[in-house]
Formats: sequence, structure tokens, C-alpha cells
Amino acid sequence: MKKLLKTLKWVGIVLASVIVLFVVAVLIFKNPTFDAPYPDIKASKDSSIIARGKAIVYGPAHCATCHGGLENVEKVDRGEEVALAGGFEFKLPLGIIRSANLTSDPETGIGNRTDGELARVLRYAVGHDGHAIFDFMPFQNMSDEDLTAVISYLRTLAPVKKHVETIDMNFMGEAVRAFMIKPVGPIATPPKAVVPDSSIEYGKYLVWSVANCRGCHTDRDMMTGAFIGPDFAGGPEFEGEKDPNFKVRPPNITPDKKTSKIANWTEQFFIERFRKGRLVPESPMPWGPFSRMSDLELKAIYRYMRTVAPVERIPGVEAE
Ligand code: HEC
Ligand code: HEC
Repeated sequence: MKKLLKTLKWVGIVLASVIVLFVVAVLIFKNPTFDAPYPDIKASKDSSIIARGKAIVYGPAHCATCHGGLENVEKVDRGEEVALAGGFEFKLPLGIIRSANLTSDPETGIGNRTDGELARVLRYAVGHDGHAIFDFMPFQNMSDEDLTAVISYLRTLAPVKKHVETIDMNFMGEAVRAFMIKPVGPIATPPKAVVPDSSIEYGKYLVWSVANCRGCHTDRDMMTGAFIGPDFAGGPEFEGEKDPNFKVRPPNITPDKKTSKIANWTEQFFIERFRKGRLVPESPMPWGPFSRMSDLELKAIYRYMRTVAPVERIPGVEAE
């Protein structure tokens, strides 16, 4: 009995030391910073380039949905211009992450950031202060031309003074940030320009590098954001922003005949569905911005989605 108590005491001491060491390690390695090159991107004052940037920000890249804040989602859906002053909250098991203020205010927005800093955030996921950006913005492979257009449009935004605490983590969040979140760069040299047409190639570009269909329609680890399911075979559950009892899952959008939501959709039906906008009231999918994509863009997306590997899977079913 005495021996057992002694052993237990030692196990307790070892466990407590491990926990203390872990806490100390997190405190020491908190807020790691990373380096990445500043892309050679320069904002332009050309009105057609700015217009193209706005079409991307309010369209396929849906920057405006996240950076307009929750109170403006409906306006963005309708295509109204709003202040992109940030503050949209993503409540994760790790804490809260808020979208940044993108207006030209020098203190709380991006007024004092260089074009290179802005381009680096989007291409290398390294923030202005060197922190690794959580995987909400997979624009790493966006073309130089589109990146230039987006930054040129951001430069036109009137200043709005609004301080946003973007990273608001609990202890687990700090631990994950200290040891697990690394910035992700482009897979190859991003294209200089991409020709918009109805090709599979352009569809692939939109799906992977601009519209982030994979980010929601693929299963993810809610701690690290890592992809843990087959691409496009359905994603993790979302709670309603206004009604927490409302739950919805991004469906399987691979071409699988049995389990895909869209296996039997024709190209025409797909385009018409996107034109209708949001039908499920609290759906997180940025239907408004997507409804403004051109026929060409929607055709390209449909054609590319027909070529991805079919996966038989109903998201959420195996977890229950
Ligand atoms: C799904 C939501 C979402 C979308 C879409 C999105 N962002 Fe963000 N953005 C965020 C969040 C969240 C942060 C804060 C992340 C962080 O600091 O780790 C952020 C931060 C930023 C920052 C500041 C980074 C820094 O240096 O601290 C810039 C600049 C930015 N976004 C630009 C854009 C642009 C341009 C687009 C569209 C091409 C876009 N974002 C689309 C959610 C989004
Ligand atoms: C922010 C998360 C998010 C993004 C990004 C997203 N989706 Fe969705 N998607 C959802 C959710 C959630 C649903 C289910 C609710 C609904 O139908 O709105 C859904 C539903 C769908 C549906 C079925 C609609 C219906 O009427 O049944 C299709 C098709 C679809 N998404 C395609 C796409 C494509 C293509 C992209 C990229 C261009 C994309 N999604 C990007 C979350 C997302």
C-alpha cells in the first residue's frame, strides 16, 4: 500500500512537471513570427484595374463578406458597397479570430502598410507583423494581375477608425499558434495573368485560388484547420450566426452519383442555382457574391467540378 502511494506520488510529480514545462514552453514560444518575401506587386490607379479588383472583392473572392462584418453580410449579398472595417468573428475551439480592418485608416486599417506587405499576406500568409495567418484566405496562387487589382481596389477605401483585435486566443489557441500554425505559400510560381474563359483550367483557378470552395466543402480539424477529409466530399458543420440552434453542413460536391448534391445537376441548373443566391437563411456560403459571378465563371467552375475525383460520402454521417 505504502509502495503504491509512493509510486502514485511520483506519477503525480512527473505529470505536474510535464504540465508546467508545457505551459512554460507555450509562454516562451508564444506569438512566433515568420519571414517571407515581399511580392513585387504595385497598386495601380487605373480605373479598369480598380473595377476588376472590386469585382473580385465583392464577387468570387468574397473578401467583402468577411471584412464587412456580420452586420453588413446582407448588404454585401445585395452588392451594396460597405466599409470593409473588419470585426467578423470566427468562434473556434481555440478562441476568437476576427477579420481585419481593410480601410485606409493609418492606425487601425491598412493605410500605413506597403503594397508588398499586403501582397505578402495574401500570397504567403505572413501578416504585417510576421504572424502566420490562419487559413481563412487561401489566395496564395492568385495571379499577379488579380492580386494587383485587389490591392488597387483596397487602396481606394475611405478610412474608418475601428480597432479590431484579430487574434483573441485561449490557452489552447496560444499553444496551437506557438507550435502548429505555419504560414503556407504558393505551390508553384503563381501565374502572371489568367485568361477568364469557360475552360476547366479557369474553373480550377477560381475554385482553388479565389473562391475557396474547398475550404468549406472539405472536412477539417477544427483545432488546426488542417484538411482531414477527401477534397470537396463535404465539410464540417456550421452553426447559425444569429440562431445557434441552426446547423448546416456543406454538402459533397464531387461528381459521385450516389452521395453528391450536384451529381445530377446540368450546367444550366448549376448556373440558375447560383443566380438565386442564398436559399438556406443562415447558410455561411457567400451566395450573394457568388451570384454575381459571370456565366463564364460559373460554367468554368461547373466544368472543373465535373473533373474532380468522385467520393462516396455523406458528411457528418460517419461521425455520428
Ligand atoms: C473567410 C473570411 C475571409 C475572407 C474571405 C477574406 N479574409 Fe482577410 N482576413 C480574415 C481574417 C479572419 C483575418 C485575420 C487573420 C489573422 O490575423 O490571422 C484577415 C486578415 C486580413 C488582412 C490583414 C493581415 C495582417 O497583416 O494582419 C488583410 C490585408 C486581408 N485579410 C485581406 C483580404 C482580402 C484582400 C481578401 C479577399 C481577396 C480577404 N482578406 C478575404 C478573413 C477573411
Ligand atoms: C463559407 C463556406 C462555403 C464556401 C466558401 C462555399 N460553400 Fe458551398 N455550401 C456551403 C454550405 C454550408 C452549404 C449548405 C447550405 C446551402 O445550401 O446554402 C453549401 C451548399 C452548396 C451547394 C448546394 C446548394 C443547394 O441548393 O443545394 C453547392 C452546389 C455549393 N455549395 C457549391 C459551392 C461552390 C462551387 C463553391 C465555390 C465557388 C462553394 N460552394 C463555396 C458552404 C460554403
